[in-house]
Amino acid sequence: MKSIVITGGTSGLGLQAALNLGSKFDNMYIIGKNEQKGQNALQDIKKLFPKLNIQFIKTDLSLISEIKKLSAYFFTKKIKIDILINNAGGIFFKRTLTAEKIEKTFALNHLAYFALTNLFLKKNIFKKEAKIINVASGAHRGANLNFTDIEMKQKYNGWLCYKKSKLCNILFTKKLSELVKVQNITVNCLHPGFVKTEFGKNNPGILSFLLKILMSLHAIKVSEGVKTIVYLAINDEAKKISGEYFYKSKVTKPSQFAEDAELADKLWNYSLQTLSNYGLTF
Ligand SMILES: NC(=O)c1ccc[n+]([C@@H]2O[C@H](COP(=O)([O-])OP(=O)(O)OC[C@H]3O[C@@H](n4cnc5c(N)ncnc54)[C@H](OP(=O)(O)O)[C@@H]3O)[C@@H](O)[C@H]2O)c1
Repeated sequence: MKSIVITGGTSGLGLQAALNLGSKFDNMYIIGKNEQKGQNALQDIKKLFPKLNIQFIKTDLSLISEIKKLSAYFFTKKIKIDILINNAGGIFFKRTLTAEKIEKTFALNHLAYFALTNLFLKKNIFKKEAKIINVASGAHRGANLNFTDIEMKQKYNGWLCYKKSKLCNILFTKKLSELVKVQNITVNCLHPGFVKTEFGKNNPGILSFLLKILMSLHAIKVSEGVKTIVYLAINDEAKKISGEYFYKSKVTKPSQFAEDAELADKLWNYSLQTLSNYGLTF
């Protein structure tokens, strides 16, 4: 029985990944925060794969308390998974805090990947030789991390904050791949390309409108953008690779900062410290 978890599987790249991978799995778990979108996604996926056991689990992944509940669900139901796709993400043009008072881009785009994956590891939810796929972005290029103000309290810029969070995805992938080597678990990340999805639509105003125009002019179709995710999930060659950044289904060199092992260590420790402030220790 093969099982997969896709965060943000209710629209865009996550939903397309579910539609492409449905025939390869027995159990699929789709995570998103919007109930209606979740139910619509379930219907679409079930229509194509009537035999697939699929569930939507409503979770706001920007909240540590909800990530804890999500992993507790898998633990108590004794569900073991083959693949985790950390994909849910967003951009926030206006600085926004979660109900737990963490800047939302950092909470959703990085801490959620970090906390959910580490909870699954801690609770032994991954099967042997499981795969972790982190959806990062080429937007990481040109960004660095400033640990004295990672949540950009001083001078917030939504695009820069997003870029930094995507750098975090790559640093996290590289560090985690070392730590899980002994368990034969592989971890890779990817840039899907500039893809026409619902990305950015949560923002009101002109920037969101401009992003929509830009997407309609320059973005690739989601069926194209999903290809590297699908490749990493099912290709036999990809199974042998870990700790890498992929673009167009090929290992690609990320930015210099994304390859900085010291930066990856610092981010790891910073993330551990932040989560421990919320009662989550690993
Ligand atoms: N589109 C691009 O050009 C592009 C390029 C590079 C990288 N990416 C990355 O691709 C990933 C997917 O983005 P997308 O383009 O497919 O965007 P999308 O269509 O907006 O999909 C985002 C998904 O994330 C979920 N999500 C957002 N906030 C959430 C929260 N707080 N809790 C739980 N789920 C949440 C959404 O579900 P709800 O609606 O229920 O919240 C939705 O299913 C992101 O990590 C993004 O950074 C996208």
